[in-house]
Amino acid sequence: MCGIVGYVGEKQAAPILLDGLSKLEYRGYDSAGLAVRDGEKNFKVVKAKGRLKQLSEKTNDGNALKGGCGIGHTRWATHGEPSEINAHPHISSYTASDAEANVVGVHNGIIENFQELKAKLARHDYEFYSQTDTEVLVKLVDYYYKKYNMGPIDALAKTIVRVRGSYALAVMFKDYPGEIYVARKDSPMIIGVNEDESYIASDVPAILKHTRNVYYIGNLEMAKLSAGAVTFFNLDGDEITKDLVEIKWDAEAAEKGGYEHFMMKEIHEQPKAIMDTVNKYVKKDGDKNVIDLSEIGLTDDVIKDISQVYIVACGSAWHVGMVSQYVIEDLTDLQVRVELASEFRYRKKHLKPTDLVIIISQSGETADSLAALRESKELGTKTLAIVNVVGSSIAREADYVMYTLAGPEIAVATTKAYSTQLICGYLLALKFGEVRGVITDEEKLKYYVDEIMTISDKVSKVLDDKERLQWFASKYANAHDIFFIGRGLDYAISLEGSLKMKEISYIHSEAYAAGELKHGTISLIEDGTLVIGVLTQEDLYEKTVSNMLECKSRGAYLMGLTTYGKYEIEDNVNFTVYVPNVDEHFAGSLAIIPLQLMAYYTTVSKGLDVDKPRNLAKSVTVE
Ligand code: F6R
Repeated sequence: MCGIVGYVGEKQAAPILLDGLSKLEYRGYDSAGLAVRDGEKNFKVVKAKGRLKQLSEKTNDGNALKGGCGIGHTRWATHGEPSEINAHPHISSYTASDAEANVVGVHNGIIENFQELKAKLARHDYEFYSQTDTEVLVKLVDYYYKKYNMGPIDALAKTIVRVRGSYALAVMFKDYPGEIYVARKDSPMIIGVNEDESYIASDVPAILKHTRNVYYIGNLEMAKLSAGAVTFFNLDGDEITKDLVEIKWDAEAAEKGGYEHFMMKEIHEQPKAIMDTVNKYVKKDGDKNVIDLSEIGLTDDVIKDISQVYIVACGSAWHVGMVSQYVIEDLTDLQVRVELASEFRYRKKHLKPTDLVIIISQSGETADSLAALRESKELGTKTLAIVNVVGSSIAREADYVMYTLAGPEIAVATTKAYSTQLICGYLLALKFGEVRGVITDEEKLKYYVDEIMTISDKVSKVLDDKERLQWFASKYANAHDIFFIGRGLDYAISLEGSLKMKEISYIHSEAYAAGELKHGTISLIEDGTLVIGVLTQEDLYEKTVSNMLECKSRGAYLMGLTTYGKYEIEDNVNFTVYVPNVDEHFAGSLAIIPLQLMAYYTTVSKGLDVDKPRNLAKSVTVE
């Protein structure tokens, strides 16, 4: 989703802004722009529809824009079509001429009451050149700034009291050269500093090569940045203090490291990400590996007290919830409900203080998941977040946080974050089972933990066998429909396999609980339709194979994804992929790898943009 970068310092701002924006390209965008000011002079705003390349060409890689203070933005259209006029930065002047502007700004998020504010401003003779809510926001800042003869912070405070919605807003005022002002609510924004420079960014990779020292600006807070100095303010305009946090991410981790695409790099980082996450929560106790969640603060008393578990998330994170549901229900005495955050937040909820709501989110900023978390908290229910991005909103607001150690995930389609979230789901299931007295046999518990410890190496083995999948995927690059079917846990994995395929290859695909096909969907099967059956669960194996054969007899081409040893599958299907054996509760971690690779190779064969699929954004910070 939209990206923001800002810089104040001695260097020329524009090339730094362009470079920072390029690190945010993965979030998805359709236009981009820069506003830079040269000392006391006016702002210069340059915008372009399309890729950043267009903006770089227009500004001679930024060299044509002089000045050491500026803001940049990549826009993912919400209000108004993707166009140069709608691109940010937006200005406060009545026409689209930057020379007259008092205020210039960029914004991520959505202003819900922008129509009402626009009408108000129109009554005060403001005119609008774009269809965006951001132009309204910038003009509202200008309105308060001028009307009450206020300083920038007071004008911002007045503005944020008046707007409804979410925003990370960065503005420059004509009267305050060398300064950037920001305000934030429910949309990510970090502020970085080093000796004589200050930065803003909507995500860490944009500024990582310049500084690792960042501040997290809280909800309804504001800040003033000048070269090397940042001051924070609350809504009353009082100064507040913040702790500087060191980002531990490796800058290299946010680069492609020799791979053609981030997605392939991240697929290959899974063994390490899985092991890092396991090692964070599994500790040695003598010769035993034990699950230790003390760092999360989830005590045995809290665990014993849980009456019902809700898992709430979006997209792939929701699919992790689906897998976790099967595992938790099987290994504990707990009932689990898995909810789409966008639905959950608007439903009447009968949550009890003894329930546990688990929010899963890679970015920790997904608007619907964040709203679900807040509503659950308001109802007095305990919340546990499984999150990848340290310091993200969900991580900061949840009662308990279990971090995944996936590192920065750049490709829009998640792979390594998904895999590490699965590990957290397994570990929680085992811990709940142990503490609640369901897994009483110590040997059995040890067996499960040891099995989890093997997943990383087994994922590496699956990756070693990727060439066969490459060949198969290129054969199916022209498919119109692909069906992924399975039962139980295999159905949960099918959901993720299908999403991976459709979101990047644009091939329509559906995941079906295999037993459900006969209730309608099977009529879609025709000659040559690819049906992928996921078969890792022994007691459901025969049943899914029967469902696959029903498809075959209607013309389907069958791919079977099963475990080593199940070689009889070759009598029934046209193409087989095997993964190593592991305890069945955790088999999804291995079965998903070939499906990620299939999606990747199919997309590459079609010549599509693997890392930045159309219409999608990495972090969905709007509803
Ligand atoms: C798909 C994908 C999305 C995310 C979803 C939630 O590959 O990445 O479906 O899983 O948008 O995002 P987070 O996990 O950041 O809350």
